[in-house]
Amino acid sequence: MTDTPARHDAAVTDRSLLSGSAYKSGRDLSARQSLYQWQSPRYDLPDLVTEHLREIRGTVVDVGCGNGKFINRLRQDRPDLRLLGLDISAGILGEVPGPVAVADAARLPLRDASANAVLALHMLYHVEDIPGTISEFGRVLIEGGTVVASTNSDHDKAELDDLWQRASGDVLGRDRGPSRISLSARFSLEKAPSLLGTAFGTVHVIELPGTIAVTDPAPVIAHMASYRAWADQHEVPFEETIQRAGQIVSQQIEKRGRFEITCLGGLLICRSS
Ligand SMILES: C[S@@+](CC[C@H](N)C(=O)[O-])C[C@H]1O[C@@H](n2cnc3c(N)ncnc32)[C@H](O)[C@@H]1O
Repeated sequence: MTDTPARHDAAVTDRSLLSGSAYKSGRDLSARQSLYQWQSPRYDLPDLVTEHLREIRGTVVDVGCGNGKFINRLRQDRPDLRLLGLDISAGILGEVPGPVAVADAARLPLRDASANAVLALHMLYHVEDIPGTISEFGRVLIEGGTVVASTNSDHDKAELDDLWQRASGDVLGRDRGPSRISLSARFSLEKAPSLLGTAFGTVHVIELPGTIAVTDPAPVIAHMASYRAWADQHEVPFEETIQRAGQIVSQQIEKRGRFEITCLGGLLICRSS
């Protein structure tokens, strides 16, 4: 993996890598999202977000809207809202019905106090200046407006981190290989409340724990392979490590009937005062 925190942060926030590779299309994001169909309990995240916006009227901006998972549901369930999807990747926005625009979360193309709610779902860990971007959300929000953010815990999917180290160790011919890149570490569920609390009067955390259990290695391997944009950040051959990980998961399924992954994600509901 990336050898220093600075190199790690640079790789996670590199805008040309994000828009030109990682999120050039929705392919890799969809592979990560689809693993949750094997989670129990299952959370309908777009439904939970819609529920937390039930009092909101007016304009809702989905910053880093990606493949439109959330904004598409809102368009369907809340036709009364003015909805705008923003993302730094023009490619991924091509998959989302409009209105959408290419924009950087750190410099939103919106007037002061013009949005009733801002969504920042699984995206703040990708921005270079997290506190600056959070205060940018405060600038565009009306007084009393809502921010809904989401991210994962530092302990989320620890079994996949372990699997990566076992597989990369086998490829390198040693006990354990280097750890893999962690996307959410810069804005994990543990760090997010204090970062958001500097700009918003109330921050309510909703933890969403669960367990993914699969009897086929394919969705796990597709999830691991979805990190291919960061393949060169790892000090091991990426494809070989993925292949070896698939063999390890298959062996475990043969032995125990299933492969389990412990998940902890969460929503943060923030109100400006
Ligand atoms: C993990 S995806 C999440 C997509 C969507 N919000 C979801 O939860 O399904 C992160 C998204 O944030 C976008 N993104 C990353 N940095 C950004 C920035 N500085 N400004 C706007 N969008 C950004 C990426 O292009 C990507 O589409």
